[in-house]
Amino acid sequence: MANKTETVGIIGLGRMGRCMVKGLLETQTLNKNEVFFTTKHKETSTQVEKELGIKSCKTNDELIEKSDIIVIAVKPQNSAEVLEEIGKKISKGRTVVSIVASIPTSLIESKLPKGVAVIRAMPNTPAFVGAGMTAWCAGSGAKEPDWQRVQTLFEPLGKVARVDEKHMDAVTGLSGCGPAYLYVVLESLTDAGIKVGLPRELATLLAGQTVLGAARMLLDTGRHPAALKDEVTTPAGCTIDGLLELEEGKLRVTLIKAVVQATKRAKALAKQVKL
Ligand SMILES: NC(=O)c1ccc[n+]([C@@H]2O[C@H](COP(=O)([O-])OP(=O)(O)OC[C@H]3O[C@@H](n4cnc5c(N)ncnc54)[C@H](OP(=O)(O)O)[C@@H]3O)[C@@H](O)[C@H]2O)c1
Repeated sequence: MANKTETVGIIGLGRMGRCMVKGLLETQTLNKNEVFFTTKHKETSTQVEKELGIKSCKTNDELIEKSDIIVIAVKPQNSAEVLEEIGKKISKGRTVVSIVASIPTSLIESKLPKGVAVIRAMPNTPAFVGAGMTAWCAGSGAKEPDWQRVQTLFEPLGKVARVDEKHMDAVTGLSGCGPAYLYVVLESLTDAGIKVGLPRELATLLAGQTVLGAARMLLDTGRHPAALKDEVTTPAGCTIDGLLELEEGKLRVTLIKAVVQATKRAKALAKQVKL
């Protein structure tokens, strides 16, 4: 970390936790001896230790002892047991960062001693390659040094935005789940390339670089996507025929509905978890 005395402990090292750790080690934000983790099953810990070269802790108690920043990265349905187990033992001065979907900071705070700082963050899996998107919000006890810690933790993994907590479920539906929607788009574009006679490897490269390039055009120029689309669409050209198919297939409304449904699910999940 920027402050070299800081250590990070991650409770739950599944798909998202691993993407984060991989990114943090590769960018040398953390050395291998500055990050600890636990998993539910011993076999998973052994496998992760081999894969990433970092040390597991035997218990969550040991992890919180060793860590300045405690990242909770278990599924929402496992968050109650974890908070019940460690909640009261976390002392002030530590920052608890929850990447658990749906669970509000107020609920997490209610399981911790008064004044312990809680940050709720929603990263995504492209953190693995340093192209992640993390949105975060601060709980009532979190102060500037905690905000700084969360920025330092996630900035090397891609872009970071601080948001109001009321937007966190929408963030989950858009950027948290979004990579999955785009993999479906990428798979479809690749299959389309195959359909029109391209070799698979070339079709994959064309699809991937085109999506990456379009995203960079959007972010680097700051222009409206409709204006960027118009530049590709020449009168009576090929693109307008392709766009017409997308309109007939209701691509826009389908993507909007996907985000709306995932957001609703994120809201509903919090009600199902008994904390
Ligand atoms: N996947 C994503 O794209 C993504 C993106 C943003 C946020 N998130 C959030 O990140 C969290 C984890 O998601 P995931 O996809 O990484 O799930 P996952 O792959 O199922 O990983 C969950 C991890 O939690 C561990 N675990 C469960 N109970 C535990 C306990 N009591 N103590 C210590 N470790 C425990 C599991 O250990 P075992 O492996 O031994 O069972 C596993 O390593 C979720 O809350 C999700 O909402 C996920």
